[in-house]
Amino acid sequence: MKTVFFTGKGGVGKSTLSAAAAWQIAQKGYRVLAVSFDPAHNLGDIFETKLTHRKKRFKDGLYLQEVDLEKAASEYVKASMNLMKEVYGYLQSFNMDSYFSILKYSPGIDEYAALTALEKILAKEGTNFDYIIFDTPPTGLTLHIFALPGVTLAWLDRLIKLRKEILAKRFTIHNIQGKYAPEGVLLSYKETDDNVIKKLYELRARYSRVQEFLQGKDNQVVLVFNPDVLSLKESQRLLFGLEDLKLPFSIGFNNKVTGMSAETVKNIENELRKKFPSLKIQRILYSDNNLTAGYKLEEDIISPLLKGV
Ligand SMILES: Nc1ncnc2c1ncn2[C@@H]1O[C@H](COP(=O)(O)OP(=O)(O)OP(=O)(O)O)[C@@H](O)[C@H]1O
Ligand SMILES: [Mg+2]
Repeated sequence: MKTVFFTGKGGVGKSTLSAAAAWQIAQKGYRVLAVSFDPAHNLGDIFETKLTHRKKRFKDGLYLQEVDLEKAASEYVKASMNLMKEVYGYLQSFNMDSYFSILKYSPGIDEYAALTALEKILAKEGTNFDYIIFDTPPTGLTLHIFALPGVTLAWLDRLIKLRKEILAKRFTIHNIQGKYAPEGVLLSYKETDDNVIKKLYELRARYSRVQEFLQGKDNQVVLVFNPDVLSLKESQRLLFGLEDLKLPFSIGFNNKVTGMSAETVKNIENELRKKFPSLKIQRILYSDNNLTAGYKLEEDIISPLLKGV
């Protein structure tokens, strides 16, 4: 299974091109799932069909799905609550209910929820499809989601180190008290008996897996931009972000190219190439065909994609 993320500034054509790509790849006989991660979904509008968070067969091997980010966020909060209760159940004095009631407003929850939803789709659908095509939310949120595995791994390593220090201190206390420690107050000092460190290792394995996948050869992030200066500036920021995060990108679609001077179009592309010389740029003309269904774009979107992944 290979994945493609369509990213770019608001309104450049991420949804249109990701839908067209999904349609064209499916037309070649591949099994394709198109997933919208944009909170303002329009995958259903483009295919003129009603979609939910459950995948729906559109035609032949093409399936569509709109991720319900609100539902994902409340599931994420619930899962975090259960994890805390399971691991810290012995801390009766810590009033967790008040903590949970505000957790849903915490910064980063939407990003964690989106990442968890992404992991679930990869785990559940990885063997069902040849390609999963993602339509992403605006640049800032998308970069935050992509950055999360790395940020989380850095935190987890720190927490694991702290927990090891706690266990070492408990071991010292155990040695002092020995067999005279009163019944019921013994705290685990071995990693194999400690729920907290076990969970931390589990989380580390999970986030490493998703990070390896995102950075791996079966994934690619595609840039969509328009031949204008604002789109160029945001594209440069996005590509620098992808580079920092070591995410694979090699294709840029210069979308909605109209009758403007060839010079202008070229200048914008050259600006991008200056900093990212290996980026292959494909132009997609502005289509004034009055498309009834947005996915039926006549332009060839997938040749560079199928070569690139
Ligand atoms: N090549 C094209 N030719 C003609 N119209 C296009 C083309 N690409 C996109 N559009 C139109 O441009 C508008 C914005 O496109 P689209 O919704 O795909 O962008 P987006 O990047 O997904 O936007 P958002 O950030 O709001 O999700 C839509 O009206 C779409 O039909
Ligand atoms: Mg969109």
